[in-house]
Amino acid sequence: MNPIRQRLSVSKTFFNQDRPFLRAVERRLARLQPTGPAAAATLDSDLGSGEPASHGRDFRPGWDECRWLLQEIKRRRGNDQIHERLRRGKATPLDRSERRSLLSMMLRITRANEPIAYVLQNMPFGSLDLAVRPPTLIPRPETEDWACALSKQLIAALGRSSVAREEPFRILDLCCGSGCIGLLLLHDLHIAGIKNVAVTLADLKESALDLTMENAQRIAAAAGTPDLAQTVTVTQIDLFSDGNIRDLLGGAPGNQQQSQLDGARFDLLVCNPPYIPPNDWPGLDSSVKEWEDPDALIGVPRHARLEDSNTAGSDGEQGLVFYRRLAELAPRLLRPGFHVVESTSVVDSRDSDTKSAVLPQIVLEVGQGQASAVQEMLAGMNSAIWKDAWGVDRVVAASFRQ
Ligand SMILES: C[S@@+](CC[C@H](N)C(=O)[O-])C[C@H]1O[C@@H](n2cnc3c(N)ncnc32)[C@H](O)[C@@H]1O
Repeated sequence: MNPIRQRLSVSKTFFNQDRPFLRAVERRLARLQPTGPAAAATLDSDLGSGEPASHGRDFRPGWDECRWLLQEIKRRRGNDQIHERLRRGKATPLDRSERRSLLSMMLRITRANEPIAYVLQNMPFGSLDLAVRPPTLIPRPETEDWACALSKQLIAALGRSSVAREEPFRILDLCCGSGCIGLLLLHDLHIAGIKNVAVTLADLKESALDLTMENAQRIAAAAGTPDLAQTVTVTQIDLFSDGNIRDLLGGAPGNQQQSQLDGARFDLLVCNPPYIPPNDWPGLDSSVKEWEDPDALIGVPRHARLEDSNTAGSDGEQGLVFYRRLAELAPRLLRPGFHVVESTSVVDSRDSDTKSAVLPQIVLEVGQGQASAVQEMLAGMNSAIWKDAWGVDRVVAASFRQ
C-alpha cells in the first residue's frame, strides 16, 4: 500500500474501531465550545481527509475536542507504535493505559472544568505551537484572527519598504500573557525574511513572563534559529506605573537627547488588555472563572479593584480603564509618524489587499461594544475598526496624523 493510503487507513482505523468508547468521550465533551481555526486546521491536515470536517456540514460539538485529546495520545506514543499495533491485528489501537489517560483528561475537562488547552499544555496559534498553563490567559481564536491579519500586513508593508532602516523595527506587546501576539509577529516576519525586528513583551505577572520566555525559546528552537530568542526582551511592568514606563523607555526622559529617546520608542504597540466589565465577570463560564487569572480579564486594574470599585468610574463599569491609560501612553511610547492609517471608516482587515494595506502604530483588541468608545479615546489619531472572522468589531487600529 502506498504510504499516503496507509496513513489514511491507519487514521481511519484509529478513530473508527473504538467507536462506543469514542462516542462516550464525544458525548461528554459535546457541551464544550468549538476550538479555534488553527486548531481545526492543524487537526484536519494531521489526520488526513478521511475524518469528518470539524466546521463544515458534519460539525458535531465536542468532536474537535475528542480528536484533540486523541491526537495528543498519538503524539505521546508515536505513529510507529500505532502501525505496529494494527499490524499485529489488535482490535483497537488504544491500549489500556491510553484509555485510562484519555479518561483522566476527559474527567479533568468535564468534572474539574479545566480548559482543554491547560490539559494538553499546548495549543496552536497561527503559525505557532504555544505552551499554555494556568493561570495565564489561553489565547483566544479572535486574537489569533487579527494577529494573523496584522502579521500579513506587516510582511507586505515592511517587505516592500524602500526605506533602508539601520535600526530595527521595534514592536511592543503590552499585556503579553503567553506572548502569543508579539511572538507570532516576530516569527512570521522572520520566516518571511524580515529579520531587522526587535520585540519587547511586557506583563504585570511573573507567571506570564516565565511562559512568554519559554515560548520565545520554544519558537526559536522550532524555527531552527536559537538566536531568535535573543532579539526578544521580556520585562515586568505595571502599565499604570509611571516609573515602569520610564524604565521601559530606558531611563528618565528629562536627561535624554531626543534622538536617544526616539531610539527607545516603538514603531508598533499591540495590546490585548483586560476588558471584561466587572459586572459581567459572574456570568462567565466556570472554566474561565475557576482557571484563568481574573487580572487578565477584568477591565479594571487590580489596585483599583482592591482600593475601591468606585475609583474606576464609568470607564471601570464598562471595562475601559486600560484603554484610557493606553491612549495617554501612546504619544510617549511611539516614535513619531512612520506609517499612517488613511481612513476612519470601518474595514475588515482581512479584505485589505497588500497594495492598499496601511500600517497602524497602535493595535488594540477590544471587547464587544467597546470599539467606538476606544476610538474616541484615540481622537488625536487616525483610526479604523477591524472586524473579526465572526463579524464583531474586534480591533481599533490607529496611527498619528502626519
Ligand atoms: C487579556 S490578557 C492578554 C494576554 C495575551 N496578550 C493574549 O492575547 O492572550 C491581559 C494580560 O494583561 C496583564 N495585565 C493585567 N494588568 C496589568 C497591568 N497593570 N500592567 C501590565 N499588564 C497587566 C495580565 O497579566 C494578562 O496577561
